[in-house]
Amino acid sequence: METRVIPVDREHLQSEDFAEAAQLLRDGELVAFPTETVYGLGGDALDPDASRRIYAAKGRPSDNPLIVHIADTDALPVLAEEIPQSAWELADRFWPGPLTIILRKKEIVPDATTGGLDTVAIRMPSDPVAAMLIRVSGVYIAAPSANASGRPSPTCAEHVYEDLKGRIPMILDGGSVPIGLESTIVDLTGETPLVLRPGFITIEQLREVLPTVEYDPAVVKRVKDETIVARAPGMRYRHYAPKGELTIFEGDLDRVVARVQKEAEAKLAEGYRVAVLASEETKDRYHGLTVRSVGDREEEASVAAHLFGTLREFDSMGAEYIFGESFPEAGVGQAVMNRLMKAAGYRIVAVEE
Ligand code: TXA
Ligand code: MG
Repeated sequence: METRVIPVDREHLQSEDFAEAAQLLRDGELVAFPTETVYGLGGDALDPDASRRIYAAKGRPSDNPLIVHIADTDALPVLAEEIPQSAWELADRFWPGPLTIILRKKEIVPDATTGGLDTVAIRMPSDPVAAMLIRVSGVYIAAPSANASGRPSPTCAEHVYEDLKGRIPMILDGGSVPIGLESTIVDLTGETPLVLRPGFITIEQLREVLPTVEYDPAVVKRVKDETIVARAPGMRYRHYAPKGELTIFEGDLDRVVARVQKEAEAKLAEGYRVAVLASEETKDRYHGLTVRSVGDREEEASVAAHLFGTLREFDSMGAEYIFGESFPEAGVGQAVMNRLMKAAGYRIVAVEE
């Protein structure tokens, strides 16, 4: 199958430009498209065959449920039942935007889309390309991140092409996404509302609307502990993983830089391909090593925006060992460190001296 990459000009969106993509979706085919978080691989959420195609294209286990993207809150009662007041309040405050809400599903949502669960994940993206695609096609779009299973989520159309070329008919190219990490997921189906995946919208922001919300314990674990099982199936898999072995060092920044330099030099001397995951503030302090800055330590959002692209770059340079700094956990930094720790398989070293 030929994969066509169609540029879209987000400043001048015209519904005619979406006609072909919309038709593909209505025909049960797949279209990759940008959202404000990461690129999604879309298919008709109410068509079980389209959902199966999504799993096949990604090589993803089919028990891992998909997020259903909507363009209007009117879709909530179509897809979900027993909708608590808190869902409307969250929608009112954060939609359209990078928040996914889990609710009890209605019959109309096929098991193939929810991985057999009786709940459904729903999100209204703010990206105008995504919103236009949903509106023009008239379908609710089931969309996981548009990466091959196990690879970092795609933050530009080139990443999607790299992973899925020949496997899907169309990619809408809207350039680089603004956020770079997947949406915050909040589950409203249990007694206590839970954040199943941290994202750009922080738990502090959620608490302004929903004071009782807590983290799913699996989200905040800092060690590899198999007894703490994530409630979101997708958070259980080895994920966001670069091909090389990534180790994160945390502690006093000067000591971290010295330690990373030392560990990287040692592996380099053994003949391995080595890379360093650094920041704007530290990148010039390493010597004789391949260094990539993931962003400015003082601006968590810049780190979020570049994290997945940088992990992909390590893959394309064939890095066998990657030594990285840890990052402040304020704001979206919580989500950054969640992804980074998973990418490192929880290989985190506290640098004492
Ligand atoms: O930002 C995003 O959310 C992106 C863009 C494309 O919207 N999508 C995305 O989808 O990240 P995906 O499939 O890569 O991640 C969805 C996560 C998975 O961890 C999945 O297990 C979880 O959401 N999930 C979906 N439905 C669920 C449900 N009913 N209960 C628990 N977890 C659910
Ligand atoms: Mg994903």
